[in-house]
Amino acid sequence: MTVHDNGADFASQLGLPETGVVITGGASGIGLATAHALAAVGRPVALWDINAEGAEGAARIIADRYGVRTAGLAVDLRNSQAVAPAAIATREALGTVGGIVHGAGTAEVTGIDGVTPDNWDAGLGLHARALLLITQAFREDLRANPGSAIVAIASINATLGNGTIPIYSAAKGAIISLVRSMADELAFDGVRINSVSPGQIDTPIMANTKAHLPGHFERRILLGRYGLPEELGRVIRFLLSNEASYITASQILVDGGNIHSQRQ
Ligand SMILES: NC(=O)c1ccc[n+]([C@@H]2O[C@H](COP(=O)([O-])OP(=O)(O)OC[C@H]3O[C@@H](n4cnc5c(N)ncnc54)[C@H](O)[C@@H]3O)[C@@H](O)[C@H]2O)c1
Repeated sequence: MTVHDNGADFASQLGLPETGVVITGGASGIGLATAHALAAVGRPVALWDINAEGAEGAARIIADRYGVRTAGLAVDLRNSQAVAPAAIATREALGTVGGIVHGAGTAEVTGIDGVTPDNWDAGLGLHARALLLITQAFREDLRANPGSAIVAIASINATLGNGTIPIYSAAKGAIISLVRSMADELAFDGVRINSVSPGQIDTPIMANTKAHLPGHFERRILLGRYGLPEELGRVIRFLLSNEASYITASQILVDGGNIHSQRQ
């Protein structure tokens, strides 16, 4: 039997690069779990969230638990002017920035008739425009630090037709397309960017749905249960690491088999 050994080093690179990561929506749910996952392998984290108290409190807990540099910043990402000052404060607090996770989000139930120019602009601004503006703000940092990467949190609702949340669905579709577009230019900087589409994950955003539709998604999802925020945190940490060095412009489904299910 021939043994193939090309001398590759398979030591874990999950904590590499060692640069800081900005996490929007970092005060809760998937963003918060991602912050813990990254800090657990030694990466500094800045939590940006409209929930100032939540972001600051979580940043303190993470710094104490893992001994990494952290920052918790009050940022409303519907406001385009909020990005630049937060970027300056983040650079100062973390020292380096080589990763971005854009997870801040809300899902407003409007149907077609409840859409207004204002809630449309706010929804697309928060989910899609903010991704672009944060990338612009850290472009030089990412370019300067080898191994830099971005992960944007989309949703299986970018693909499924859910009539109650048209703004959210359009915004998540925009994220997936924007990621593919930016991946082209960012690759010349050596920077990777991917989207992650969660299915039903047990976080505050899903609390209402879970309470009102008991057992509904569990029947459909192939793995038979909601996902945990930690299960997203691990995937996002992987995508930000050198372990994922050949993945860019992709959408990674983390949905327990929901979207491919034919169960009812
Ligand atoms: N939980 C799920 O089942 C699920 C499924 C698909 C996609 N997602 C996406 O995952 C991401 C994280 O959601 P989650 O489940 O952790 O929910 P979550 O409610 O626990 O976290 C969302 C965070 O975003 C913050 N946020 C909301 N509006 C903001 C704004 N204007 N500026 C800054 N921060 C703001 C909130 O304060 C909160 O901390 C969201 O983008 C969501 O759309 C979640």
